[in-house]
Amino acid sequence: TDYAIGIHDLSFSTTSLVLSHAELSRHNGTDLAKYHVGIGQRAMSVPTLDEDIVTMAAAAAAPVVERHGTDRVRTLVLATETAVDQSKAAGIYVHSLLGFHPNVRVVEVKQACYGATAGLQFATALVHRDPGQQVLVIASDVSRYDLDSPGEATQGAAATALLVSANPALVEIDRPSGLFTSDVMDFWRPNYRSTALVNGKESIAAYLEAVDGAWRDYSAQGGLPLKDFRAFCYHQPYTRMAFKAHRQLLETCGEAPDDAAVEHAVAATTGYNETVGNSYTASMYLALAALLEGEDDLTGESVGLFSYGSGRVAEFFAGHVRPGYREHLRGDAHRAAVDRRRPVDYPAYRELREQTLPTDGRWHDLPHQTQGPFRLAGIRDHQRVYEAA
Ligand code: CAA
Repeated sequence: TDYAIGIHDLSFSTTSLVLSHAELSRHNGTDLAKYHVGIGQRAMSVPTLDEDIVTMAAAAAAPVVERHGTDRVRTLVLATETAVDQSKAAGIYVHSLLGFHPNVRVVEVKQACYGATAGLQFATALVHRDPGQQVLVIASDVSRYDLDSPGEATQGAAATALLVSANPALVEIDRPSGLFTSDVMDFWRPNYRSTALVNGKESIAAYLEAVDGAWRDYSAQGGLPLKDFRAFCYHQPYTRMAFKAHRQLLETCGEAPDDAAVEHAVAATTGYNETVGNSYTASMYLALAALLEGEDDLTGESVGLFSYGSGRVAEFFAGHVRPGYREHLRGDAHRAAVDRRRPVDYPAYRELREQTLPTDGRWHDLPHQTQGPFRLAGIRDHQRVYEAA
C-alpha cells in the first residue's frame, strides 16, 4: 500500500466511582508505600451496579461517533475478558445504543488482556483490503479479584475506543509484529467464577518471558532496532510492571538496565493506569493515550507497543506518531472522566461488590447510580436492558 493505516481517533471512558489505595490500606493495614511505590497504583475505578463493559464501551465510542459519524464503519470489534454473555457479542448493544446503521459486522474477541490488539491487527487488514472503510475497535473490561487477595489492589475498569482507518490522524501501525504464544496458567477465570484466579509471581515471570519472546520474533521479522524507539507502551496490570518489562527488554537486547533509561522510556505512559487500575484489554491503549497527551511532541517518533494476554499470547509492534496528531487528542475529556469519579470508602465498595445482578428471570429495575451517558436499566426475562442515561 502507499497509504498509512492506523489509529485515527482514540477515546476512553471509565466508571463513576473510585476507591483509593489510601482507603484500601486503611482497611487492610498494608503499608501505603507498597501500593504507591511497590506496584505503582494510587486508585482503582469501581463500577456502579448499572455500569458494565457495555456502558463503558458505548461511553468511550460515543465521542468518536460524534466526530466521525458511522457511515464508513463496516466492522465493530469489541475485545473483553469480562463478557456479559456467553453467546451474544457485547458490541451489538453498543451498535444499538450509538445508532449504527445495520450494514456492519459486529464480533467479540477474547484472549485475556491481549484481545484488543488482535482486534487492531484484524482492523488494519480490513482497511488494507478497502481503504475507504473504517473499523471501530473497542476494548472494555472490569477487573475483579477476590476480596483481601493480593490481586485486589490491582483491580480497575475502563474502555477504549480506537477508530482504525487509512491516513490516520494519530498513529500509523507499522509492520512487522513480533508474536509469542505458549500455554501457561498464570492467570485465568473459569466460566463459573466472577473473579480471576492468578499465580501472582508466576504471572510476572510469564509476562517477562513473553517480552523477551515477542521482541526476539520482532527482530527476526526485521523490526526496528531498540535505539529507534522514543517510548514504550506496555500492558500495565499495575504500572510498576511496565518498568520491570522495560528492564527485561533492555536485558534481552544486551543493554544495561539503567534506571534513567527505563524512566525515560516508560514514565510518560502510566498517568491514567495508576489511577484507573487494571483495565485488562484497554490498559495498553490507556498507556498510549497518556503518552500522546503528555507534554512531549512525539511527531514522527516510533513508539513500541507490547500487548500481553495471560494464558498466554503477546505481541510487540511499533507505531509511528503522525504529524499534526496533537489537534486530534482528547486529553481534556479524558482527564475530566478520571477526575469526576466519586470516591467511595471501603464499606461502600464492599457493599457494591456483594450486590450481584438478579438471575431469576423476573423484571428488575436497577437504581440509577452512574454519571455516564449510558446505563444498564435492568434485567427482564434474563435479558439485559440498556438505555441512554
Ligand atoms: N514499600 C515499597 N515497596 C514495597 C513495600 C513497601 N512497604 N512492600 C512491598 N513492596 C514492593 C515489593 O518489593 C514488590 O516489588 P518487586 O515486584 O519489585 O519485588 C512489590 O511491592 C509488590 O510486593 P509483593 O510482591 O510482596 O506483592 P504481593 O505478593 O502482595 O502481590 C502481585 C503482587 C503478585 C502483582 C499481586 O498484586 C497480584 O497477584 N496481582 C494480579 C496479577 C498481576 O497483575 N500479574 C501481573 C502479570 S500478569 C498480566 O499482566 C495479565 C493481567 O493483566 C493480570
